[in-house]
Amino acid sequence: MEIWRLGVLPRLSECLGVPKKELGQTCDCRFLRCKFFSLTETPEDYTIIVDEEGFLELPSSEHLSVADATWLALNVVSGGGSFSSSQPIGVTKIAKSVIAPLADQNISVFMLSTYQTDFILVRERDLPFVTHTLSSEFTILRVINGETVAAENLGITNGFVKSKMVQRPVIHPLSSPSNRFCVTSLDPDTLPAVATLLMDVMFYSNGVKDPMAASDDCDHIRFFSFSLIEGYISLVMDVQTQQRFPSNLLFTSASGELWKMVRIGGQPLGFDECGIVAQISEPLAAADIPAYYISTFKFDHALVPEENINGVISALKVSQAEKH
Ligand code: ARG
Repeated sequence: MEIWRLGVLPRLSECLGVPKKELGQTCDCRFLRCKFFSLTETPEDYTIIVDEEGFLELPSSEHLSVADATWLALNVVSGGGSFSSSQPIGVTKIAKSVIAPLADQNISVFMLSTYQTDFILVRERDLPFVTHTLSSEFTILRVINGETVAAENLGITNGFVKSKMVQRPVIHPLSSPSNRFCVTSLDPDTLPAVATLLMDVMFYSNGVKDPMAASDDCDHIRFFSFSLIEGYISLVMDVQTQQRFPSNLLFTSASGELWKMVRIGGQPLGFDECGIVAQISEPLAAADIPAYYISTFKFDHALVPEENINGVISALKVSQAEKH
């Protein structure tokens, strides 16, 4: 359980503006009650997604920007579990049934794909619209204090009339860093064995020139995502970082495939705009390309199999050109 203390370790605490001395006194039970914790490092910042319990444990700081409103995390639990291996993974699976309908209703989402599942965060106040929009295909269940209750479909819409036939061109600029990523998991019992390494990777490795990364590789970015959600760990890291881990500890999918990233956004994307995830995930779903999707405070990130990256980039660039 010590690992929960990583929420207050040096570089993060620096960016949260917490004097280190205070940490020693306050960190003991930090995050213990938190069931949803995700930390993603990007070149610009750390994005933290935590549940209310976890949020209360975060020190208040002028360095911490908090997105407006409260968000709820939805995930799709499919009925036929045993057949799931034949289904496309990641956002590709939910692009048509969840992401596109929400975008059609102008409902803003925030995505977090993990090794285990894909979370679609929506604003709590949008829940009635979400429930209504998805009611034809899904029963929405809400887990409140450990109890599962059906979210009522009040039949309310936000009055937004969808124009189904309208194309959804890619609006924001795209880039593709040179890193090759893997999406992995870790048995929580082995967490203590890699705790120091994880902390090093997340908080101390900045600026350390990796011998593997050629110094002329300026397209290489820092990107590392850790989540511990209801006891399940997910880690998204590039191959250079993966090589620092003991080889037998991380689980990857059987195919052990590597992923390349499409970064979406020039200016920070904010939290109100809708349809960004749909613009990227719909064409991927149409082409049956699996994808993970991680939104961060400023930008969005899609991961596609490395053999598909060139095709994906060119298809999205065509879609981008159609915007005018
Ligand atoms: N709200 C966007 C959408 O509905 C996705 C999130 C973009 N914003 C961000 N800060 N990453 O497609």
